[in-house]
Amino acid sequence: MLANTLTFIGGGNMARSLIGGLLSNGVAASRMRVVDPNESQRQLLANLGVAAYATQEEALMGSDVIVLAVKPQMMATVAHSLAQFTQQYKPLIVSVAAGIRCNDLARWLGGDAAIVRTMPNTPALVGSGATGLYANNLVTKDQKGQAESLMRAVGLSIWVGDEAHIDAVTALSGSGPAYYFHMMEAMIAAGETLGLDAKTATLLTVQTALGAAKMAIESQASPAELRAQVTSPNGTTEKAIQSFEQSDFVGIVHNAMQAARDRAVELATQLGAQA
Ligand SMILES: NC(=O)c1ccc[n+]([C@@H]2O[C@H](COP(=O)([O-])OP(=O)(O)OC[C@H]3O[C@@H](n4cnc5c(N)ncnc54)[C@H](OP(=O)(O)O)[C@@H]3O)[C@@H](O)[C@H]2O)c1
Repeated sequence: MLANTLTFIGGGNMARSLIGGLLSNGVAASRMRVVDPNESQRQLLANLGVAAYATQEEALMGSDVIVLAVKPQMMATVAHSLAQFTQQYKPLIVSVAAGIRCNDLARWLGGDAAIVRTMPNTPALVGSGATGLYANNLVTKDQKGQAESLMRAVGLSIWVGDEAHIDAVTALSGSGPAYYFHMMEAMIAAGETLGLDAKTATLLTVQTALGAAKMAIESQASPAELRAQVTSPNGTTEKAIQSFEQSDFVGIVHNAMQAARDRAVELATQLGAQA
């Protein structure tokens, strides 16, 4: 259920991942266009068979959906440049930029605009992303379906009903990959301390993360139940979990995510202060 014509503003990593996902889902390259001032980015897009332009005019013509895929710091400038088209033709605007609130974006776009704000994460680059989506009150049911089809091209998509929850999504899945990488780093280092060589410790750590994620996705059981299932009384896992608990592992994660959420709110306020 994707729109007839989709224009990406910004043709970098995120736009290319989305385009790659859409192409492999059977969306025709002829239905997508990209605007990017960077010649080397345009060449990469041309290699995918997608028309890439240095300026907006030609790319916007007849567009139903505009995907804003530039860095958050560029968003005000880009939105100002799209204001006239947006107010005249009322396309759906989908933003993938971290920390840009709908009201700020609408103001930069010259007033009312149907906006879906999304918060993807870096695994989107390998087709395993997790994206939170929020729609403002001008987005129609059909447009929600279009935004969801777009983001599903790079992984899981979940709607939130309150824009403030996008800050929680940022703290959870937005920054989340780094938490798992940090856990991997710690496990690799501990494995080496216990005598394993670096390569062995790395391979075992990464495969264990993949296996645990796969079990959590495929099983009907909750992560807590899965953990209980592998924690035999007085066994090795139980000793490790007790050690985590003594260090208040749950509290550590809670504090870390609270800090990420607070920073997301702060950044959004700073970015939104632009005229
Ligand atoms: N990458 C991720 O995994 C990820 C995850 C979550 C959210 N996001 C969000 O996705 C957005 C894009 O991130 P990215 O990683 O794809 O960035 P990126 O690779 O830097 O791509 C952005 C592209 O936009 C181009 N650009 C700059 N000004 C422009 C303009 N006025 N019109 C059109 N294009 C313009 C840039 O060109 P120059 O290089 O010449 O400036 C660059 O090629 C960001 O807002 C980020 O918050 C990304």
